[in-house]
Amino acid sequence: MNTPTRTSTQHSESSTAEVRYGLVGSGYFGLTLGRGFLLRPGATITRVYDPEFAESAVSEFGAVASASLEELCNSDDVDAVIVASPNWAHREAVVAAAKAGKPIFCEKPMALSYADCSEMVDAAQDAGVLLMSGHVMNFMNGVRQVKQLIADGTLGKVLYIRAVRNGWEEPQPSISWKKRRDLSGGHLYHHIHELDVVQFIMGAPETVTMVGGNVAHQGEEFGDEDDMLLATLEFGNGSFATLEYGSAFRWPEHHVLVQGSLGAAMIDLTNTGVTVRHQGGEDKYLLHRNEEEDAGRTAFYASSEMDGGIQYGTPSATPPLWLQGVAEEETAYFHGLLTGAEPDPEFAALTDGSAARRSIATADALTLSLAQDRKVRVSEITGN
Ligand SMILES: NC(=O)c1ccc[n+]([C@@H]2O[C@H](COP(=O)([O-])OP(=O)(O)OC[C@H]3O[C@@H](n4cnc5c(N)ncnc54)[C@H](O)[C@@H]3O)[C@@H](O)[C@H]2O)c1
Repeated sequence: MNTPTRTSTQHSESSTAEVRYGLVGSGYFGLTLGRGFLLRPGATITRVYDPEFAESAVSEFGAVASASLEELCNSDDVDAVIVASPNWAHREAVVAAAKAGKPIFCEKPMALSYADCSEMVDAAQDAGVLLMSGHVMNFMNGVRQVKQLIADGTLGKVLYIRAVRNGWEEPQPSISWKKRRDLSGGHLYHHIHELDVVQFIMGAPETVTMVGGNVAHQGEEFGDEDDMLLATLEFGNGSFATLEYGSAFRWPEHHVLVQGSLGAAMIDLTNTGVTVRHQGGEDKYLLHRNEEEDAGRTAFYASSEMDGGIQYGTPSATPPLWLQGVAEEETAYFHGLLTGAEPDPEFAALTDGSAARRSIATADALTLSLAQDRKVRVSEITGN
């Protein structure tokens, strides 16, 4: 096993300046992000807005509950806003925070349509405030390692990426918002991570196609999202990607396989770890920060808790160690930017709006392809 060579983003922090955060949405991941931010010297969480589940965060973080989004965003004791509300509610929160002139960390997916995403990015840019998309996969050690090996030419030209995130969903006692297309966007938007990483490596595709549907999960015990989505991306330069998402797969898989002209990399999120084959042989890397986090992920996926990465946290659940670890890395990066650390070019797309825009644009194009049963140019969505 090669030792990880990527430096922790925590090292980029440059100051202990105080940052008082307001947390919008304090469920499963809002609490996780809050805990991540509180590890940073100078960070406090002063306010929480969550219409149903504020109590835990208020007592754990010693924060005040705000009665409304506007109150939180405009409070003098809030310097920056963390948006971890359900996907459908991100737009309103980001626009309100931008109007209040506060820097924003927004969970993925940024939005459920390209129009909303553009409005959010424009609102932040017009107000001159930082808006970072929480595309957390970019902070995984093994993903950073593969991106570095691509950048330095070790894998040659990337010809093809196959990203797969699927499993089987059993009947649910109650239907989470995460299973409703109008609230979460369904698998493609809710699990935008893989679509984002493909585009971090290959750029935005020119044309896309998607087939699929809800093939095995109709009825009252399920949401209305499509449980089988098969997407193809064409980059116009002799390179391609395919993505497979859904909860209609009895043999769960979760991986990103990069095929280059000189080598290949398997980012395995199930039997956790990264294997790179190149002209000089084969190397192995940790996906997460240490053996314990990787082993924890493997064990978690092997249990029934997280079948292929398509099961979900609830407000009262505690995330596994590896997820806490990547959340710590991304919150450290955002906090570092607020306290004077130099931006890292590797993460520029997360803060200039481009990763959010291209991931939602491509998701919208794929959705249109499925709806109209045709190949779609991404420019039909973006207008350029
Ligand atoms: N990066 C990751 O790996 C990761 C993991 C889990 C969740 N997420 C993202 O985090 C966000 C929250 O997901 P979660 O798992 O915490 O869901 P959750 O259901 O556990 O929590 C959502 C919380 O938001 C609250 N809420 C509902 N409407 C709201 C509104 N209008 N304004 C503010 N709060 C509102 C709910 O009461 C609930 O407490 C989602 O965008 C999700 O995609 C990211």
